[in-house]
Amino acid sequence: MAEAVAGGDMRPFQTAFSREFLEAYQRGSLSYTYKGVPCLKSPIDLAIYLSLLWNEKPRTILEIGSKEGGSALLFHDVAAAFELGATVVSIDLEKPANPPPGDVRFLEGDVTNLDAVFEEHGLFSLPRPWLVVEDSAHTYSACLAALEFFRRHLRPGELLVIEDGVLAELGLSEDYDGGPNRAIADFFVRWPRAFEVVTGYCDMFGTNATYNPNGYLRRSPPASSDSTPSDPERRTAGRRRPHARG
Ligand SMILES: C[S@@+](CC[C@H](N)C(=O)[O-])C[C@H]1O[C@@H](n2cnc3c(N)ncnc32)[C@H](O)[C@@H]1O
Repeated sequence: MAEAVAGGDMRPFQTAFSREFLEAYQRGSLSYTYKGVPCLKSPIDLAIYLSLLWNEKPRTILEIGSKEGGSALLFHDVAAAFELGATVVSIDLEKPANPPPGDVRFLEGDVTNLDAVFEEHGLFSLPRPWLVVEDSAHTYSACLAALEFFRRHLRPGELLVIEDGVLAELGLSEDYDGGPNRAIADFFVRWPRAFEVVTGYCDMFGTNATYNPNGYLRRSPPASSDSTPSDPERRTAGRRRPHARG
């Protein structure tokens, strides 16, 4: 299993990339296509995902943020090549206008209201283990909503990837209200033991040499200290949520 650090020891979010390098790298990543379909992943993260899919062998890959379906198609094809027998579900506010051919289930849904789409389409019963890739709005509130939802619904050992914290180093934090990095940092203050940062993936090519700094997260086993938030005020709030899980 890839190495991990507990969230209580949250590391800096700075990536291994210089700003100069990132500008060109970002242009390439945003114009990348897979089988002719836009697939907005950085090449390093594509390599990390290939390795991750082989190591983790998810039976369900849940992507939030389909765009034109390129990354979902890539996940589908790699999972098929690895004979994982995995279902790929990709959720977006709007389904791709021209969904790529294949077995990906494209569904309409909002990252801030995942209960609705999961209930409507029976997603809670999808085969385990799950890999979840959050690649939708990238705002602070969207990322936090995904972290909270999957804290409740992932099982120990399953992975959640919060994508694109790199936007901070592209000077875009304000546009996203702090974006993924602020959401992960705040979430870990509140729930220090809910997830571990999987350094084996984040640091595969150098410390946080990824578009998803500290964003490859593994759901930790339940522990008493993780069953309630970390400060008294929030502990009170936590008791009001019947589905909150450690
Ligand atoms: C970065 S693109 C996804 C890229 C795609 N995963 C890929 O790698 O090719 C972000 C997508 O998130 C969708 N999105 C934005 N806000 C959303 C929300 N609140 N819930 C679900 N999807 C959302 C947008 O419609 C857009 O298609």
